[in-house]
Amino acid sequence: MPKSKVYAHVFDEETYRNIVKLKSGGYISDLLGPIGTGKESYVFYSHDQHDRSVAVKVHRHHIGAFKQIPTYLRLRGTHSRGYINRIDDWTRYEFNFQQRAFGMGVNVPEPIRNYRNIIVMGFIGENDSPARPAIQDRDFDAKAWYGKISNYIVLMGRRHMIHGDLSPYNILNLKGEPFLIDFSQALKLSKMTLSYLSRDISIINNWFVSIGFEETIPEKEIIRTIDPLLLSGE
Ligand SMILES: Nc1ncnc2c1ncn2[C@@H]1O[C@H](COP(=O)(O)OP(=O)(O)OP(=O)(O)O)[C@@H](O)[C@H]1O
Ligand SMILES: [Mg+2]
Repeated sequence: MPKSKVYAHVFDEETYRNIVKLKSGGYISDLLGPIGTGKESYVFYSHDQHDRSVAVKVHRHHIGAFKQIPTYLRLRGTHSRGYINRIDDWTRYEFNFQQRAFGMGVNVPEPIRNYRNIIVMGFIGENDSPARPAIQDRDFDAKAWYGKISNYIVLMGRRHMIHGDLSPYNILNLKGEPFLIDFSQALKLSKMTLSYLSRDISIINNWFVSIGFEETIPEKEIIRTIDPLLLSGE
């Protein structure tokens, strides 16, 4: 029995069709193993037709998967009808942000293909074992990481992009290099969404302080570096 059939029972019919479509396009082979299971998504390890390792992120279709969806749709200004279309929009939004971040030189898994509720991207890991999130793997240079990550926040912010869920859970440590993942809660930066940027910055700053790196840049200073106008009228 092909391995993707083994997983068929965890997917709804629509998702299963989408997986078959990506397989027939050569973007993925069988889903070789689960890497991560969240409330809202599954991530699998697979290969593309050139035998390159890929990660396959499948957003779940079940009702109630995203409690925050209405708030995010309002902030994103997307208004598609029907649950499946909304999840598809949600996934496309994530993929687009990841593409833009990748294009700007931010360390993110290479976005390869988006189809409906599925994203195929470069696999961050060695052989078939995935890199661990920074919360579990502290083997890195905190000063160098803080420099890179705070710079990524600024670079993205200047392009009006907020990751929206930055934390040591969503930063993978590949041989000492940080990779930002999970753009599923990304938002366009404006005064209306400034609190989400502030949250990202404070989570990162607090985390670095908690692991003994004290030279974090104050939140307001980072925001000012992105765009001083964001703080006007405060
Ligand atoms: N490109 C990748 N390469 C290796 N491992 C990955 C990759 N993408 C995701 N993972 C693993 O899968 C886990 C879940 O991925 P991710 O954070 O994108 O989804 P999630 O937390 O379920 O997100 P969501 O908020 O959309 O539910 C990650 O913590 C990471 O361990
Ligand atoms: Mg995550």
